[in-house]
Amino acid sequence: MSAPEPVTAVIVAAGSGSRMGDGVPKQYRMLGGKAVLAHAVDSLSAHPRVTKVRVVIAADHEELARQAIGERDVNLVTGGAERHDSVRSGLAGLADGTVLIHDAARPFCPLRVIDDLLYALDDVAGAVPVLAVADTLARGDRQLDDMVDRARMLRVQTPQAFHVEDLLYAFEEVGRRAATDESSVLVAAGLKVATVPGDPALDKLTSAADWPRAEAMLAAALIPRTAMGYDVHAFAGPGPIMMGGIEIAHERGLAGHSDADVVLHALTDALLGTIAEGDIGLHFPPSDPQWKGASSDRFLAHAAALVRSRGGLIDHLDCTVICEAPRLTPYREAMRRRISEIAELPLDQISLKATTSERLGFTGRGEGIAAQAVASVRLPQ
Ligand code: CTP
Ligand code: MG
Repeated sequence: MSAPEPVTAVIVAAGSGSRMGDGVPKQYRMLGGKAVLAHAVDSLSAHPRVTKVRVVIAADHEELARQAIGERDVNLVTGGAERHDSVRSGLAGLADGTVLIHDAARPFCPLRVIDDLLYALDDVAGAVPVLAVADTLARGDRQLDDMVDRARMLRVQTPQAFHVEDLLYAFEEVGRRAATDESSVLVAAGLKVATVPGDPALDKLTSAADWPRAEAMLAAALIPRTAMGYDVHAFAGPGPIMMGGIEIAHERGLAGHSDADVVLHALTDALLGTIAEGDIGLHFPPSDPQWKGASSDRFLAHAAALVRSRGGLIDHLDCTVICEAPRLTPYREAMRRRISEIAELPLDQISLKATTSERLGFTGRGEGIAAQAVASVRLPQ
């Protein structure tokens, strides 16, 4: 038996998302630390037979698209005014083989659906995922005109699988008639489209009300993780000191290779701990001269970005500073605000506490400052 042929995925993302409302177009909005489009790309490229991914974008969205895609190996293609213009741009240069056409606005695609589609495609021109309609169906406007028998009604989702030749033929036959998907074009051209079981996870993000559902779906698939961080810096030389990303007036300074910010260092280690990514020294070696005197903002921002790049949600950051002096109460709120800016988290997810050690130990003798931190995150399984 010959090896199954590779599959190209075309993800259409050139729409304006007008029904979602103002702001960043829906395909570029963040969902659990990752753009909707990036979710769609990842869920299709996870399938072993998908070897190429093309993303069709609007001409003026290139920057948004590049940001959303990051390092992912995809080809960006410019789309058009109507969906079928975008799909045709995505097919450019393809003459045969198998293609999956998918909406960027459907971020989650179970691999099982792709398996079923590719299997079903053996003896038909196209295959689509479908779901039965659960509600009563009717025609009407301000009142019901007539009832529609829902028994044979189907909701058609994407991705949709096609033999490229059949899809191109259907486009030629049907011309530029508006269609909301490609299966409509095939059916209009008289070609056979098979159905496979769809999945509620594939439902499209269309209006603002769809957003909480997608967030809940994502959160349900995440597992909580907690990790700690600890840091100490010795007093040396004159102040001020950097703590929690702000400058604090004090007669004595802290020794350290970077800016000696114990709070940001402990928080950075806690976040790195949640993804088992070693510690701050591994990412920013003290032996590397470029980190000499470095502002620790970038350490914390880097750790937060790493967690988010894994699809993680940061739920909470908590830190306790241990020192006899300086007194931190006057600075606490400014530190929390700064940490919330650096980690890009709401203020109520940042906690900062301070304690003395009752003049015991090195902190008690005023030899240095220590900080302990705990980070709580949720990560994909
Ligand atoms: N799409 C596209 N090119 C178009 C129109 C739509 O690539 N000219 C894409 C959208 O980006 C989306 C998918 O087709 O991923 C499904 O379309 P839809 O949900 O209608 O998205 P939008 O057209 O962006 O939204 P709206 O209709 O609310 O403006
Ligand atoms: Mg549209």
